[in-house]
Amino acid sequence: MSLLTALSIVCGWMLHVSLSALNTQYYCVPRKTVPYQNELKLFREEGISNYSTMLMRDDLGVLLLGAREAVYALDINNLSVKKAAVYWRVTEEKQRECTYKGKHAEPCRFKSPRTSLHGGGLVAGEVPVHLLSTAEVPLSKAPNPKNLLRVECRNYIRTLHRVNDTAMYVCGTNAFSPTCDYLTFANGQLTLEGKQEEGKGKCPFDPFQRYSSLMVGNDLYSATSINFLGSEPVVLRSSDLALRTEFKSSWLSEPNFVYMDFVAESFDSPDGDDDKVYLFFSENAMEYDFYSKVAVSRVARVCKGDMGGQRTLQRKWTSFLKARLDCSLPEPSLPPIVQDVFLLKHKDWRKSVFYAVFTPQSSLSQVSAVCAYSVSAIRDTFNEGKFKTPVAVETSHVKWVMYTGEVPVPRPGACINNVARKMGMNRSLDLPDKTLQFIRDRPLMDEAVHPLTGGPLLVKKGALLTRIVVDSVLALDGEKYAVMFIGTGTVSVAKKLQFYREKEKVIMYLEVNMQKLILSVSSGLCGVFCCLLIENGYIQKAVNYAGEMFIIEEIQLYENPVPISTLRLSSSKGQLYAGSEFGAVQMPVSNCSRFDTCVDCILARDPYCAWDFEAEQCSSVSSLSPSSNTATQSLKEGDVSQCPQPDPVAAVDFTLVPENNIQLPCQLHSNLAQVLWRLSDQTLHSNNKYYIYSGGLLILSASKSDVGLYTCDSVEQINGRTYNRTVAVYRLQLYSGAGGEDRTTPGNEVRNSSDSVHGVNTASPGLVPKPGNEEPLSPQNQSDTGRVTRLEVAVALLSLLCLSLTGVIFWIWSRERWQCFKLGQRSGESEGKRQSAEYMHIQNRTSEIKLLGPESGRPCSANNNHSAVDFKGNGEHHFTPMANISSLDGLGYINDESEI
Ligand SMILES: *[C@@H]1O[C@H](CO)[C@@H](O)[C@H](O)[C@H]1NC(C)=O
Ligand SMILES: *[C@@H]1O[C@H](CO)[C@@H](O)[C@H](O)[C@H]1NC(C)=O
Ligand SMILES: *[C@@H]1O[C@H](CO)[C@@H](O)[C@H](O)[C@H]1NC(C)=O
Ligand SMILES: *[C@@H]1O[C@H](CO)[C@@H](O)[C@H](O)[C@H]1NC(C)=O
Ligand SMILES: *[C@@H]1O[C@H](CO)[C@@H](O)[C@H](O)[C@H]1NC(C)=O
Ligand SMILES: *[C@@H]1O[C@H](CO)[C@@H](O)[C@H](O)[C@H]1NC(C)=O
Ligand SMILES: *[C@@H]1O[C@H](CO)[C@@H](O)[C@H](O)[C@H]1NC(C)=O
Ligand SMILES: *[C@@H]1O[C@H](CO)[C@@H](O)[C@H](O)[C@H]1NC(C)=O
Repeated sequence: MSLLTALSIVCGWMLHVSLSALNTQYYCVPRKTVPYQNELKLFREEGISNYSTMLMRDDLGVLLLGAREAVYALDINNLSVKKAAVYWRVTEEKQRECTYKGKHAEPCRFKSPRTSLHGGGLVAGEVPVHLLSTAEVPLSKAPNPKNLLRVECRNYIRTLHRVNDTAMYVCGTNAFSPTCDYLTFANGQLTLEGKQEEGKGKCPFDPFQRYSSLMVGNDLYSATSINFLGSEPVVLRSSDLALRTEFKSSWLSEPNFVYMDFVAESFDSPDGDDDKVYLFFSENAMEYDFYSKVAVSRVARVCKGDMGGQRTLQRKWTSFLKARLDCSLPEPSLPPIVQDVFLLKHKDWRKSVFYAVFTPQSSLSQVSAVCAYSVSAIRDTFNEGKFKTPVAVETSHVKWVMYTGEVPVPRPGACINNVARKMGMNRSLDLPDKTLQFIRDRPLMDEAVHPLTGGPLLVKKGALLTRIVVDSVLALDGEKYAVMFIGTGTVSVAKKLQFYREKEKVIMYLEVNMQKLILSVSSGLCGVFCCLLIENGYIQKAVNYAGEMFIIEEIQLYENPVPISTLRLSSSKGQLYAGSEFGAVQMPVSNCSRFDTCVDCILARDPYCAWDFEAEQCSSVSSLSPSSNTATQSLKEGDVSQCPQPDPVAAVDFTLVPENNIQLPCQLHSNLAQVLWRLSDQTLHSNNKYYIYSGGLLILSASKSDVGLYTCDSVEQINGRTYNRTVAVYRLQLYSGAGGEDRTTPGNEVRNSSDSVHGVNTASPGLVPKPGNEEPLSPQNQSDTGRVTRLEVAVALLSLLCLSLTGVIFWIWSRERWQCFKLGQRSGESEGKRQSAEYMHIQNRTSEIKLLGPESGRPCSANNNHSAVDFKGNGEHHFTPMANISSLDGLGYINDESEI
């Protein structure tokens, strides 16, 4: 019975997953899904969590890893090897102080271990759901469940920077009292010097707050809050001449700092410009007229040589400028929020590119995107763009509009350059008050920075993208390709769960924040509550081939998925390092041996891998000898014509027992392929006789007439070409009496059916709606081999029911899946106005996003006429995106002062 229950749960889970697949897979689908493999090198230490800060020291051969109350020096070649460790725990006194101020040193303890929900429908299938109590409290008295989960009065290591050959600078939150110290690695030993420097402004108080920092020379640049409450954000340079931002909401308004990097723009600069530090963050928008707070993404920069002003902006940045970062999503939405950035450096800094990951600010959307921005575009916006200025409308209301008046010289916010030097100003201290006052009051540029390609490089629905690194890979064709590795975080699930009870009392309320769905029942401090975190820790490996977005594969990094909180790349070693709450993992940038045939190797379109005809294997391009011309790649085309014809697949004999259901397994090599089943050259379709799903074919209640040769073909379309190959062949024969040698028992086979959905949806498990009124079917008698027990039959039949349900869903889903979008971007005609995204469907094509940049003007329909196999219907779909809706148009955007 418990097996049946389990099965109904699995069934419900599958149903849910399929349902969620319905609305999560419109966008890019990874070609391959690589489940967790044991070979990945993992580092974790019992009792230590939150492995979230990394510093690569190639020179020392170690990766420094900062966790909660510990720093490790790990072998950079084998992360599992701990070379040294140092523990930095908070003192009892600090912890007492911290808890006294209302913060937590331990997570809240749950009062009762388990309970059920009224008005139910919530089943803990594959999902880690912990339902606790159902205490009844008025909603108004319920504490914020997020706060109860927090453990703050500990020392979370947050800042790790190189100082010199042996020393690092390290800061920790130290129980809401940030502290910094020097750390040395010498003679295989990690040592803290115990200097206990003040860490305010260098490291956040709150371990849950985003921050960013960067060491340039001996100067530490940091962006974080400088006070206990987290209400005073600063961008700080700690150096002999410390500088910070002005405490004004026009400079920073409740920001979330994400990333900082340095660009040596003084190099080879014709106008004698200075080096810059760029900062990425999100904050409350000031430029939109909206009834509630709207966040926007920003890029800001300061000059390395800034020394502050003399009278105005004393000890403050004179070069702090910020602009909105534009990354339009295909669905109308609030502006997406930048989560992480990576600077792909080029010898010529003008060609360096920032890659940024964006997630939606509304929990109602699950669309993440990657946009890329060239350093020169950002620089142009700051150096030549117009400013925004505040204008009072009505009495107390301020609008930010384009500044049309005269701009003082030297240009406000500019670094000291030849123009300033010619005017006799060698330092920012020499700048005139007029310039400084201007920039103090108007740090925001009018124009947004637009992505390099006009629109996103990648749009993906499902698990939110959290972190990004980008590798530049030299392929066989001599071109360099930017391969993106993107970490995923949590998926927010079903939005419509409601567990309210009658009258004023509430049993449970629901909070959906951006990353977590929290069901809450609360009573008192450390109250009882429950939480539901749906996590998903994959690395998505993606490339853009001339506008075509392609996800080569997605790789699961942890056995139990956890969001990836840090990602580092060692291009020279070909290794990725990922940190999470649970531990740190090392992963090679490619594993070509995963592609075992020539066709698979070519269709993978992985720039790291090529098919080596001589060795007859898929090899890493870097391992090929430069002189060898026996290897092939076809990245842009995915052309397999050079591959030798594969050997024909041998037919497997299968025994048919009349009245039984028969499952013929067939696992495709690609998530982008479709399956085509044939019975002696006649195409099979899902109907009341056959059920085709991603794991194989199910023949329901087989009879003598089903005897024959069954072929499973995989049909994959890449760039308009169709590749089909036979994956499996079965010869079905009639069962010929006792002692028959049938290798597979249908009842057992069916149990594997839960795989089918897993193969389909790689996103995540979901919340399970209880399949409440589905009574288990009564088992039928079976007169066959005798290996099938009654229970197994019951299981099989229940699975069947389940399968047919999922089948219907899968069918709908697979019809949806082959559609994809082209993102079209018109170049902005009106200044400052966000460009509208136009998109269309590409029917019957694989699901990459096609980018339609300004230069590539191909219409979407150009690739539209490959009519694929007909089993998936005519390509009709229900999703009708609204073209021409620009989210920001609705926010009362004013372009020009004159419009008021
Ligand atoms: C630290 O890890 C624990 C789980 O191991 C998690 O609940 C907590 O949110 C993490 N804290 C931070 C600041 O990331
Ligand atoms: C990495 O280190 C671990 C722990 O010492 C060891 O078990 C493993 O074999 C090493 N792997 C490699 C590839 O050297
Ligand atoms: C490195 O920096 C540390 C901390 O400032 C200092 O004590 C040490 O002498 C320096 N070492 C070298 C080799 O410069
Ligand atoms: C600026 O520097 C130039 C050359 O380095 C020098 O001749 C000039 O006097 C300086 N001006 C000021 C105001 O310091
Ligand atoms: C690469 O993939 C193969 C096949 O899946 C596996 O056996 C091997 O261990 C992998 N290598 C690494 C370094 O992960
Ligand atoms: C390959 O696919 C095409 C189009 O779907 C079809 O016409 C053809 O018969 C297939 N070939 C094989 C060998 O299955
Ligand atoms: C069914 O699952 C078992 C164990 O999970 C596995 O060994 C077997 O190969 C699977 N069969 C098919 C047809 O996938
Ligand atoms: C069920 O099958 C067994 C043999 O497997 C047979 O003896 C029995 O009579 C059958 N019962 C019914 C109700 O058909």
